[in-house]
Amino acid sequence: MSVSIKSAREIELMRESGKRLAEVHARLGEAIRPGMSTLEVDELGEKLIRSLGGVPNFLHYHGYPASICVSVNDEVVHGIPKRTRILKEGDIVSLDAGLIYKGYHSDAARTHAVGRITPEAQKLIDVTRQSFFEGIKAAREGMHLHDISAAIDAYVRPFGYGIVRDLVGHGIGTALHEDPEIPNFAQRRRGVRLQAGMTLAVEPMINAGGWEVDFLKDGWTAVTRDGSLSAHYENTILVTDGEPEILTML
Ligand code: MF3
Ligand code: CO
Repeated sequence: MSVSIKSAREIELMRESGKRLAEVHARLGEAIRPGMSTLEVDELGEKLIRSLGGVPNFLHYHGYPASICVSVNDEVVHGIPKRTRILKEGDIVSLDAGLIYKGYHSDAARTHAVGRITPEAQKLIDVTRQSFFEGIKAAREGMHLHDISAAIDAYVRPFGYGIVRDLVGHGIGTALHEDPEIPNFAQRRRGVRLQAGMTLAVEPMINAGGWEVDFLKDGWTAVTRDGSLSAHYENTILVTDGEPEILTML
C-alpha cells in the first residue's frame, strides 16, 4: 500500500476538479423535488458535469451504467438511476457524483430531503454530515489515517446509529479509488501517517438502524438489512500541515 503525495501542480488540478463537482452538487440539490425520477437526476448531473468541462468518472466504472448514484431511503449507496423510480415527498435521497478534469478525479456525496421529511430523517442527515466534519478534524499532517476513522466513530456512536462497515472512503487523484482505504469506524491499528499533499475521499455512510447492508441483485445497490434509512456525506479533501482543505465545497 502506498499513498500518493500530490505535487503543487496536481493539487491545483484537484482544486479545479473539486470546484466543478461542488457546482454540480449545488445545482443538483436545488433541482431535487417530488415527482422527479432518479434517471432525471442522473441526466441533469451528467449534463452539468460535461457543461463544466468534466467527464463523469462513475459512468462505466466496473460496468456502472450511469454518471450519478441515486440512493433513496434504505438504499445506502450506488443506487442505479431509473425512469420508473420517482422521488416523493418525505423521501431522503443520497446523490454521489464524481468527475475527471484534466486527468484528476473528484468524488463527493450529499443526502437531500425530498420536500418535507420527518425530524428523525433530518437528524440522520445532519449527524452524517457532521460526522464527516468531526472526522476531518483529525486529517492533518502527523496524525494517522485511523484517527479520522476513530473520530467519525466516536461522534456517531452515541446516537445509536449503525456505521456501515462494508464500504469505506479512499485515496483519490489520477484514479477514482487510490490507497488508502478509509473506514468510518474505529480500527485497532493507527493506519498510515498522514502527510501534506495526500488527497482523500472521506465518506461516512450511516444507517438509522443496524450497520449491516445487503447488495441487490442488480450487482450495485447497497441497502440496509433492516430497512432503516441511510445517509451519506462525502468530500474530497487535501491534507495539509494545518486544517484540511475541502476541495469539493464552494
Ligand atoms: N463514490 C463512489 C465510491 O467511492 C464511487 C461510485 S463508482 C460507481 O464508492 F461506479 F459505483 F458509481
Ligand atoms: Co468515494
